[in-house]
Amino acid sequence: MSFKEALDLRVVKIEEILAKYIPKEEGFQKTVLSAMNYSVEAGGKRLRPMFMEESYNLFSQKYGDDCESREVLHAFMSALEMIHTYSLVHDDLPAMDNDEYRRGKKTTHVVYGEAMAILAGDALLNYAYETAVKSIRDAKDAKRVGEALIVLSRKAGIYGMVGGQTVDVEAEKRNEELSEEQLLYIHENKTSALIQSALMVGAILGGAKASEIEIMEQMGYDIGIAFQIQDDILDITSSLEELGKPIGSDEKNNKATYVTLKGLKQAKQDVVTISEHALLLLQQLPGNTIFMKDLIVSLINRRK
Ligand code: IPE
Ligand code: IPE
Ligand code: MG
Ligand code: MG
Ligand code: MG
Repeated sequence: MSFKEALDLRVVKIEEILAKYIPKEEGFQKTVLSAMNYSVEAGGKRLRPMFMEESYNLFSQKYGDDCESREVLHAFMSALEMIHTYSLVHDDLPAMDNDEYRRGKKTTHVVYGEAMAILAGDALLNYAYETAVKSIRDAKDAKRVGEALIVLSRKAGIYGMVGGQTVDVEAEKRNEELSEEQLLYIHENKTSALIQSALMVGAILGGAKASEIEIMEQMGYDIGIAFQIQDDILDITSSLEELGKPIGSDEKNNKATYVTLKGLKQAKQDVVTISEHALLLLQQLPGNTIFMKDLIVSLINRRK
């Protein structure tokens, strides 16, 4: 099977899992439920659940019986995709990036209105934790689920994604030169944090030791930074049709990006160098790492 075929299969499987975990659209609050599901079902690359599952696979090959059950893993995969999707719904709001397209469709606030998009984001975030916490009932080892929850919640919050988005938005308003250190803080938190969460939670549920979880955190840092640099590149070089979201969003918002800081050529080179560093870290991991390696390599030249 080619990597592309393997990738497509993974996405199909992840979407089947997600379909099981997203809420039914019924009751007086139906509108918010349909706004939640609209954004989750719109598609996307499903990278974060994919990284989580693959991280789990690597360690469960090594630790066998010692890993947490697949039901727990699936709940966490769904929870993380809900958190990621909420971050996109809010990121697209008029008060933030004010974008009209996401995942090839009109953004949630365009279809459902701003108030409902805010609520759908809140609801996705809350339902993500409801889903993950509830999985304790299926757990072999509740303490391990607790450890996974600590990582999931921390990386999504003020010491993770929300922290990064905060500095991103402030930097834009200040409209002044950003230092490389500040930009890396933004990238590390708004983007690497959820990828670290994916890899670390997968490792924790797969039975990894502390030193192995730390390698996953470092690898997630690299993958996320390279991913966000490529996102900044595509905001200039891609198209709405190919990307599924508007290009020129960063320029419109006067955003300092990796490309404005370093130039397009250096940015492209750094995506390669940083991804190669992630691949070096991968060599320290157990199990069959071929899919993980191909996935990291595929992101270097991704066009969407
Ligand atoms: C978009 O993430 C937000 C960034 C961190 C750049 P993705 O590019 O993974 O978005 P989807 O899930 O595929 O839509
Ligand atoms: C946002 O970064 C990352 C999030 C946490 C949502 P961007 O604002 O660059 O993401 P896109 O380009 O809108 O997907
Ligand atoms: Mg943004
Ligand atoms: Mg945006
Ligand atoms: Mg972007």
